[in-house]
Order: sequence, then C-alpha cells, then structure tokens
Amino acid sequence: MTDGVTLAGALSGAQRILAAAGVPNPQLEARLLASHALGITSEMVLGYPERRVDLGRKANFDAAVNRRAQREPLAHILGRREFWSLSFHVGHHTLVPRPDTETLVEAVLNWLGGHNGDLRILDLGTGSGCILLALLAELPRAWGVGVDLSMHALEIARQNAAALGLADRADFVRGDWANGLHGRFDVVISNPPYIADRDIIGLEPEVSQFEPRLALSGGPDGLTAYRAIVPHLGRLLARNGSAFLEIGAGGAADVTKLIREQGFEHIEIKDDFASIPRCVRIANTI
Ligand SMILES: C[S@@+](CC[C@H](N)C(=O)[O-])C[C@H]1O[C@@H](n2cnc3c(N)ncnc32)[C@H](O)[C@@H]1O
Repeated sequence: MTDGVTLAGALSGAQRILAAAGVPNPQLEARLLASHALGITSEMVLGYPERRVDLGRKANFDAAVNRRAQREPLAHILGRREFWSLSFHVGHHTLVPRPDTETLVEAVLNWLGGHNGDLRILDLGTGSGCILLALLAELPRAWGVGVDLSMHALEIARQNAAALGLADRADFVRGDWANGLHGRFDVVISNPPYIADRDIIGLEPEVSQFEPRLALSGGPDGLTAYRAIVPHLGRLLARNGSAFLEIGAGGAADVTKLIREQGFEHIEIKDDFASIPRCVRIANTI
C-alpha cells in the first residue's frame, strides 16, 4: 500500500465519527469495519498501525464507517453475524440473530438430553434460519422445515443452509405461521415478533430504522403472533413433542396465560444468560 493515511490514523478518525454518532464500542467497531473494508484480518488491523492504507481502500472504509454512523447495524454492513458459533449471512430482510435467542437452542438440546435419533423440527418465522440450522448442526440425524412469510428471508435462510452444509436436511417454505402446514414434529421452535407496535419507535435506531417490521411487530400488545401460533401446537406436535417459543423481556406472564388458555398445562420457562425469562417450553400432553 502506498499513498494515503496510516491505519492508526484511519482508525482514530473512524472512532471519533462512530463515538459522535452514539455507536456503542466505537473502538471495537472501527476495527471490525476496517478489517472488513480493507480486506485484512483483525489481527493485522491491531498489529500493523503504521501500515499505509491506499486511497481506494480508505474510501471503502469511510463508506462503511458512514453507514455505521447512520446507525445501520454492524451485521448489515459486514453481511454476517455469528450465532451459536456459526456464521450466518444476514441482510435487510432478516432479523439480525441475537445472543438471547441461543437460549432456545440450549433449551432444546437440554430437553433432548443427548438423544440423537431421528427428529423432525419445525421453525416458525425462521428469518436467517439461525435457530433451525444451529439445531441441525448439533443433531446430525435431525431434519427440519423453516417457515417464513418473507420470500427474501427464505432466500437468505437457504443460502445459510447451503453455506453450512445443511441444505439436504433443511426445507424452507413460505407460509403464514402454521396455516396449511401438515404433519407432526418432535420439536416446534419459534422466535416470533413480539414488540408491541407502540414500543418499536423507542428501540435503538439499529432496530427501529433498519430491521424489518415484519420481524419486530407483535401487534398492539406484542402477542399477535403467539395467538396465531399456539392454537396449532396441539396438531403440530408429535406425541411427547415440545414447542419452544422465545419471549420478550417482561412477556412471560402474558404468554404463559395465553398458552394455558389453549389447554396446555405443562409449561416450563428458561432464563437467558442475563436471568431474563426468555424461552417457554410447551409439552404436548393434550
Ligand atoms: C423475530 S424474527 C425471528 C427470526 C429468526 N428466527 C431469529 O430468531 O433470528 C420473526 C420472523 O417471523 C417472520 N414472520 C412474521 N410474520 C410471519 C407470519 N405471519 N408467518 C410466518 N413468518 C412470519 C418474520 O419475517 C421474521 O423472519
């Protein structure tokens, strides 16, 4: 690399811009954006501060920093997000996979307790496919279907399945929750949209302005998707099967009430790593 600024200079300028825009962790994010835009590893970004950045690459870096300063999610700019130690392609039509959602994967695996036989898994509102594909990666004899209303999200989920070598065990189909779905599944999982509509505007800009409303909006009280999904669980779950639904912070009481009203009695709640009730397991005993 010839003319241009040093890496250290480019990084400190980027950190200032990101900090002024209110981006959390500007130092770390500047490094990640530099690695992405300059096509070098994070170790090289850290290890060679005097390296010169040519003007063409600096322009790429500036463009990435400016997008982030508009509060576009880092994952959209990088095009990827790690979930369950796997790398997922994400875009404007998919929710960025959240660490909280790993609670569902853990809950399913704990419930299976090492059982590693043939399993049928249904993922309602699959988005990037992250929950289903994380489970298929852990369960080599399982097979699954991911359903989403968004064709664009399904395209991303299919790309992820192919990139992770799981495409032969994952089908992705367009659907409105479980309407029109037939068959029974040992495990039904869903991270449905559960933000009450009036609360979306108050979320951080990365979410409220850039993530798909279809992935966020839980209707007036945040429960619309649960009302659509829960009544189908009885016919979708195999004997001794279980459903695992993600719940938002503070949502456990309302969701469990709704589930009990549908006649399910065996309900368990699992907390996430921050001790927030995050996942409800519904056992099929009806
Ligand atoms: C909260 S996101 C979860 C995405 C992914 N499972 C995850 O955990 O990152 C909810 C997903 O439900 C999908 N969705 C919304 N309404 C739907 C409907 N009526 N039928 C099927 N999927 C729907 C959205 O497109 C979105 O992908």
